[in-house]
Amino acid sequence: MRRPLIAGNWKLNGSRESALELAADLISGSADLSADLLVCPSFTLLNPVREALAGSPVALGAQNVSAESSGAFTGEVSAAMLAEAGCAYAIIGHSERRTLYAEQDRELAAKVLQALSASLTPILCVGESLAEREQERQEAVVQQQLDAALGELETTAIAKCVIAYEPVWAIGTGRSASPQDAQAVHASIRAWLGGLSESLAPSVRLLYGGSVKPDSASALFEQTDIDGALVGGASLNASDFLAIARAAAS
Ligand code: 13P
Repeated sequence: MRRPLIAGNWKLNGSRESALELAADLISGSADLSADLLVCPSFTLLNPVREALAGSPVALGAQNVSAESSGAFTGEVSAAMLAEAGCAYAIIGHSERRTLYAEQDRELAAKVLQALSASLTPILCVGESLAEREQERQEAVVQQQLDAALGELETTAIAKCVIAYEPVWAIGTGRSASPQDAQAVHASIRAWLGGLSESLAPSVRLLYGGSVKPDSASALFEQTDIDGALVGGASLNASDFLAIARAAAS
């Protein structure tokens, strides 16, 4: 049985004050929830949010991680630094990083390795563009992204990853994939895992992301292969985020 994971990607949002308020609201609303909760604030908010979450079951993660461990890489933050800052997870290969910052597959594979080496759980994001969806190439695109980022890893390492399917056309648009369309891609991801190792397929958590809201969450979580969500906009509102988490836990 895979325990649901509801992850909030706060993106480039929030101040120290609003982050602390959001963290406090999440703690008070998450008691006895049978789902894992995670928030991923900006780097400079990690420390105050870590302090606010101390002793609570809400985990902390980063939105990005360097492909390098140390050296002359101005502006980068290493996996070891993130672990030291209290992170348990790192989002890797979000479509905004791929499209706006030209992150390449080879770099993403290195980021996954860096995260694992610091005992962070990588949340690898995959997903097709609107043009690729219109050509019905979503499963081929996702498989190619999985091959590139995870294909060289031992299955024991892949077992430590979370995979988030985020169709690019559904992110921030208010247009979520239908539960059936999301499930079809999730099933193809699980089949990809099963092709590597039979024991891998049932154990890895697969999240859906892209305009997940409280009213669309339950139907997504009813799908066999959807184990939670990577939430953008709705994660900035504690009651929406908690409603999504309760939908996953029920
Ligand atoms: P939205 O929930 O705002 O569509 O964002 C999804 C996302 O990009 C999460 O990583």
